[in-house]
Amino acid sequence: MQPKRYYRVQGTRKLTGSIEVTGAKNAVMKQLVCAMLSRHASTLTNVPQIADLQRTVDMARHLGAQITVTDSEDAAVGRSMTIHAEHLAHSEIPLAIAGNNRMAILFLAPLLHRLGQATLPRPGGCKIGPRPVDFHITAYRKMGAVIEETDEGFHASAPDGLRGADIKLDYPSVSTTESLIMAASLAEGVTYIRNAALEPEVIDLIKMLQKMGGLIELKGDRSIVVTGVSELRGTEHRVIVDRIQVASFACLGIATEGDIFVKGANQEDLLNFLNVLNRIGGGFEIAPDGIRFFYKGPLQSIVLESDVHPGFATDYQQPMTLLLSRAHGMSVVHETVFENRFHFLHQLRKMGLVTEIYTHCLGEKPCRFRDRGFAHSCIIHGPGRFRSAELYIPDLRAGFSYLIAALVADGESKLYGVENIERGYDFLVERLRSVGAEIELCEATGNWSYDGLERSKTRWSRDRSCLLTMG
Ligand code: EPU
Repeated sequence: MQPKRYYRVQGTRKLTGSIEVTGAKNAVMKQLVCAMLSRHASTLTNVPQIADLQRTVDMARHLGAQITVTDSEDAAVGRSMTIHAEHLAHSEIPLAIAGNNRMAILFLAPLLHRLGQATLPRPGGCKIGPRPVDFHITAYRKMGAVIEETDEGFHASAPDGLRGADIKLDYPSVSTTESLIMAASLAEGVTYIRNAALEPEVIDLIKMLQKMGGLIELKGDRSIVVTGVSELRGTEHRVIVDRIQVASFACLGIATEGDIFVKGANQEDLLNFLNVLNRIGGGFEIAPDGIRFFYKGPLQSIVLESDVHPGFATDYQQPMTLLLSRAHGMSVVHETVFENRFHFLHQLRKMGLVTEIYTHCLGEKPCRFRDRGFAHSCIIHGPGRFRSAELYIPDLRAGFSYLIAALVADGESKLYGVENIERGYDFLVERLRSVGAEIELCEATGNWSYDGLERSKTRWSRDRSCLLTMG
């Protein structure tokens, strides 16, 4: 049996110091795929070392891309990755390689353009809702693809190539917008993507494509107009900084009543997050090379609603919800992007979080989940004391919230399911220790399952070893 890794965390430490952030998970994975639209090599810099990217690399290599990784001494360059997809060897991504990763569906664009067909497994991803891919399928069919759905996944072909189309998304889906921008860049004619997502990671993909020779125009009405070109060249591109990591470390610093400078944080990408910090009384100071986040006194409760960009990002919601548990009074959070993103709150009750979860919309924003029975609103009462606990990390951002909870709790907590947090945060233990957190990555053996842990019926085994000890 594989040993189970967990974080052992000592709470009630004020975290202070400086943390550096690298490139955005949700940008770099799409940019790797984008590089495969061209037969020429492209190089990405500021590349993070996260598990989800490794999965994407595995898929790309399986298809035939040559990928080399270089670590630069120059911190401004960081890790770089060169992707050279001169020839593609396969048009199928097996489930065993895609794993629990949503990226497989993004390979539709390079595979259909380069090989005329693609066989892809159904996508996985964090357990935050059903996460269908119907928008992708409908749009590609409009562009001329023939797509058959099977129980295992999809088989797509484009016998006559992809052609431009007028596509209106039912909702501004990030990955659908990105996939269509890539597909349309090499399609015949002009593609209109209406009701498109405009997240900073989407814009960063557009910047990369423009350097590759793509013709992409942004209109003021959430439309993107792409004129197809016959070929794209290789390029060099620095991956945008991970704004979700920045927001996560900001919530952490303020929740622990500490003071963390996040090097590389970019105000422009975080305007709405910073507005919320202003509303709750969290401190921040913008510097040329990053943003300082600090506790400046008691926090105030608010009503918060997540939304597509430029609204308050759903990925900020989980760490921010935890931060709101440190605020005085009753906060209301309404999640309008994913229908099941409050599941993580149940386990936090063990630590003392006082929360009620509702299926009603506790907010005013238009919401697709109204009257559909999804538990997508909650009330958070603060600021209670948290006690230590043993929890299983169910998804990436929930995992960061559990870390914050463990770092403010009395005593020692254990967080299992470390692999879910490693999907999107690199060098987390080292970075947290550098700002004074007492955290270790340990291994446990024994006959128990995560399922039991999620239901709080745990059988614990002795700690076997600590893989990374406290600094
Ligand atoms: N949707 C559909 N049909 C589709 C596609 C999307 O109904 O075909 C729905 C989704 O179920 C969801 C909403 O549209 O309710 C928005 O989904 P979107 O497609 O925008 O999400 P995504 O592209 O799958 C990316 C990020 C997520 C982030 C969302 C929203 C990546 C790899 N993932 O997901 O990141 O939350 O956009 O900004 O880019 C994370 O980093 O923790 C994470 C979950």
